[in-house]
Amino acid sequence: MVPEARSVPRHIAIIMDGNGRWAKQRLLPRVAGHRKGVEAVRATIRACIERGVEYLTLFAFSSENWRRPADEVSILMQLFMRALEQEVAKLHDNGVRFKVIGDTSRFEPKIRELIAGAEAQTAMNATLTLTIAANYGGRWDIAQAAGKLLAAHPDAARGFTPEALDPYLSMAYAPEPDLFIRTGGEQRVSNFLLWQLAYTELYFTDLLWPDFDADALGAAILSYQQRERRFGRTSEQVEAAR
Ligand code: IPE
Ligand code: IPE
Ligand code: MG
Repeated sequence: MVPEARSVPRHIAIIMDGNGRWAKQRLLPRVAGHRKGVEAVRATIRACIERGVEYLTLFAFSSENWRRPADEVSILMQLFMRALEQEVAKLHDNGVRFKVIGDTSRFEPKIRELIAGAEAQTAMNATLTLTIAANYGGRWDIAQAAGKLLAAHPDAARGFTPEALDPYLSMAYAPEPDLFIRTGGEQRVSNFLLWQLAYTELYFTDLLWPDFDADALGAAILSYQQRERRFGRTSEQVEAAR
């Protein structure tokens, strides 16, 4: 079925980039940008709920971000931990289902416990599913899904369809993103959701993540609504199916 393109995107995935540059412009340490970035996350979650977006997926820490200076990695982990401690109750009150995707085995036990607790507490919520991608890499996701498929169906070693992989991908619970947003001016995917972005509309903005807000989200959604998603078909076919 060709999905209706001119409505609100069901699933928005965002690469929140530009925290460091935001801080640098103000002659502040990079951590100030990350702190301000948390406020932009709050504003974006609120705006998604108001607009009826069902799934919001945020890239918070990539599998490559371990390569940053140790003190920045440690500050990012502290911010993540603090957000888990302080924000989850509020998310729960607002009907948000909280999920984390990525290889969390590398995180401290305390963070892993907080993640498990937050996921369990909010599992039945249905207003918005908020997914945080943490120590996530798109290639890792495809590789781990293939491993799980082969473990469950050894005969898949002789070959399998792309659809056979779907149930083992880390976002199997969500539809594929309709709209991808990257802030910070860079136009690349940086190993975010690779498999799932196959037919996602891409939107890039020069705004730095700490400056992203409800209006910026509105501009991205407006751009999305002006596009025609053809999924391989002709424009005439898409019109006829309306
Ligand atoms: C994004 O902002 C946040 C993370 C990657 C954790 P950056 O920290 O990458 O900011 P810039 O790209 O250096 O400005
Ligand atoms: C992508 O941003 C990862 C996150 C936003 C978490 P980066 O700033 O790490 O990406 P590159 O290094 O510029 O590609
Ligand atoms: Mg960056």
